[in-house]
Amino acid sequence: MSTIQTSTKNLAAFKPINTHPHQPQISLHGLVEKPFPAYMLYNRKPNFEMNEMIVLGIETSCDETGVALYDSEAGLRAHTLFSQVEIHAEYGGVVPEIASRDHVRKLLPLINQCLGQAGLERADIDAVAYTAGPGLIGALLVGTAVGRSIALGLERPAIAVHHMEGHLLAPMLEDEMPSFPFVALLVSGGHTLLVEVQAIGHYRILGETLDDAAGEAFDKTAKLLGLGYPGGPVLAKLAEHGDAGRFSFPRPMTNRPGLDFSFSGLKTHTRNLWINSDQTESTQADIAAGFQQAVVDTLAIKCRRALQHTRAQHLIIAGGVGANLALREALLDDGKKHGWKVSYPRLEFCTDNGAMIAFAGCQRLLAGQRTGPGLQAFARWPLDQLPGLEKSV
Ligand code: KG4
Ligand code: ZN
Repeated sequence: MSTIQTSTKNLAAFKPINTHPHQPQISLHGLVEKPFPAYMLYNRKPNFEMNEMIVLGIETSCDETGVALYDSEAGLRAHTLFSQVEIHAEYGGVVPEIASRDHVRKLLPLINQCLGQAGLERADIDAVAYTAGPGLIGALLVGTAVGRSIALGLERPAIAVHHMEGHLLAPMLEDEMPSFPFVALLVSGGHTLLVEVQAIGHYRILGETLDDAAGEAFDKTAKLLGLGYPGGPVLAKLAEHGDAGRFSFPRPMTNRPGLDFSFSGLKTHTRNLWINSDQTESTQADIAAGFQQAVVDTLAIKCRRALQHTRAQHLIIAGGVGANLALREALLDDGKKHGWKVSYPRLEFCTDNGAMIAFAGCQRLLAGQRTGPGLQAFARWPLDQLPGLEKSV
């Protein structure tokens, strides 16, 4: 156990933030860097290539400490997770400094627990994959430093993983693996992206949000309805008992062509509805249901367009909002109606976890990619800058 003690009380003055603020990219060399040419992270060392490996995956980009052991032959061996949700709840949002300190405290015990669950020793780890961005810079540096140190100590290769690539590939952890090409709807607290995926690393961004991410819209709307933190799952639960048709809500940017999103107007619309309402419990549930339906319809309309535009036959949904049951149901129904396949990860792999990082890292490591020994993490890191793999899973 780490000896660092975090007193949450004396950090009460910290302003809580939403999950993915815009921060500069920094390294432990203390340099503030320009946007990083991400391909430079990956060296190819074909003479170091392995065909079979057990990869330790580490995820610390925000408020979940996730660890997993992925075996390239046998699949997922074990995974462990600690969610900081209760720690941040009293501040109404994620406090970055508290997040970093708690990752320091939990990461090594979680790694030991994961090894124990898998019946493995540290020496059995063949390679380490860690989330290097995008996310909270201090939190990312914890996973980066621990991941690189384990790799150094064991003399094993390591790889920096893009958090959103982890989400995007998470459906591949399931028995029925989606096959390329497909369209991915990535909906998390920090991102809303529609991506055409030809193979690992071959990502074409079809559309993205111009303001709030879908998860952020859920969280902010939940907050203004007085539902606390974390908002998404609470609002979704409340919406189950509401009447989605009682109030009218816009479906933003659906009456013009294109695949971009905008959710901030919907949030303002909801605030005005709530302020001018009787603010009873049933009204709160009806507004939550109407808001959720508007987000679901908007996402579904754009997914439909993306599949028609790319002529893809397969849609995958990933990221925290992918855990929303109304969204899953609507996209599944649409798939049945239009004849395309719809896949998503199990609920626990929609939100942040170590398994998706171990899996994504494993694919790049198998293709011979490695990350050099510097400790670098990136608050921002464009997904379409990643190098493509020739070899597919
Ligand atoms: O992917 P994730 O765990 O972390 C990020 O990378 O951001 O996503 C977290 C987001 C939060 O905004 C959370 O409110 C939202 O996913 N979320 C949900 C649900 N579960 C999590 N939103 C709507 N319905 C849910 N059931
Ligand atoms: Zn995430």
